[in-house]
Amino acid sequence: MTIRNKPYSLPLTEIEQTAFCSTEDDLPAKPLSEEMKVNVRWQNIPSDYLHLTPEELDNRIHEVRNKLGNKVTVLGHHYQREEVIKYADFQGDSFLLSKEAAALPDVEYIVFCGVHFMAETACILADDSQKVILPNITAGCSMADMAPMEDVDDAWADLKNILPEENSVIPLTYMNSIAGIKALCGRNNGAVCTSSNAKKVMEWAYDQGERVLFLPDQHLGRNTALELGIPLDKMILWNPFKVLGGNTPEQIKESKIILWQGHCSVHTRFTTQQIETARNRYPQVNVVVHPECPMETVQAADMVGSTEFIRKVINEGESGSVWAVGTEISLVNRLARQNPDKTVFCLDPVSCPCSTMYRIHPAYLLWVLDCINEEQLVNEITVSAEVKSSANIALRRMLDLA
Ligand code: 13P
Ligand code: SF4
Repeated sequence: MTIRNKPYSLPLTEIEQTAFCSTEDDLPAKPLSEEMKVNVRWQNIPSDYLHLTPEELDNRIHEVRNKLGNKVTVLGHHYQREEVIKYADFQGDSFLLSKEAAALPDVEYIVFCGVHFMAETACILADDSQKVILPNITAGCSMADMAPMEDVDDAWADLKNILPEENSVIPLTYMNSIAGIKALCGRNNGAVCTSSNAKKVMEWAYDQGERVLFLPDQHLGRNTALELGIPLDKMILWNPFKVLGGNTPEQIKESKIILWQGHCSVHTRFTTQQIETARNRYPQVNVVVHPECPMETVQAADMVGSTEFIRKVINEGESGSVWAVGTEISLVNRLARQNPDKTVFCLDPVSCPCSTMYRIHPAYLLWVLDCINEEQLVNEITVSAEVKSSANIALRRMLDLA
């Protein structure tokens, strides 16, 4: 048994998560030098980029993109800010973007406007000759950081000690995890899932084995398992700072799902109280939330789904309809702008962008594009050949199911 003896420590990305929260509804880009006054980690780039106004950045990004032509594809997650997402050749949720990355064999450079695990996934799915670039190297994910490889390896070894039979536990990881965890899933008959296919992948997992180890988001794991009819008393939480995750061997043997104790700091801000307030204000409101929200919030909402799902239901909603949304503010603001005939607002009265997604400022995008144009490779995301091949198996299992 692995004896965990380390003090509880929050990932730095988690501590930084509320850094950009504001009471303003909109968060327009300012020159990078001004945004850098917010006390989080920033990647240093040449000083000429720091003082460019949003308009100057816009003109220069257009110029360099035209020069680069088909050599570069820009992928953008829906949580990216407006000044960045407008340059994306493809916009999507994690699932759509991973499919896109797997379908771009002729592109030399994939510039991923999203966070680190997304660029890493693109690298796993891309051809070895392609280069994947993350514009700001400090754009991580606090949830992914809650499952470091060493802790997950220890947990897996402990679980296999208690449950040695083949397929007694199937590891499933949410896309929002490091490549090494995807590889562990690939090597052990497991798979990757995203918020848009978690139910399908979990159903598949229960066809493969007896129970599931779900990493790293306890909320997506719990919400999905409940949808499949797994009762709460068959779900246990794995706290990596405790021996056996804080469980007894009997509890582990009796469980149907072991939920890693991780969460998204953006989505755990959404509460049942906020839903009640929205319903009091607009009795006809439709409440739609992301499955990274806590169970109580998901159960109090009218609908739950990935960012792609949220976009679709609101875009297809009737004119005059009212939508209270529990997901990242950059997407909610965009949906409100794109649907002027509807009332669309964020459940949280404070605007709290995902602080790592938000760190992809247009100045970083311009910098990496300029570097490609000058044949200088910066911020390339790489994955070792060994990890890449096992992680690829887990990702392909997901893509084949969808
Ligand atoms: P999806 O893109 O799968 O909806 O996930 C949201 C998210 O938190 C990405 O980090
Ligand atoms: Fe990670 Fe949450 Fe940000 Fe998504 S929204 S990148 S899960 S911190």
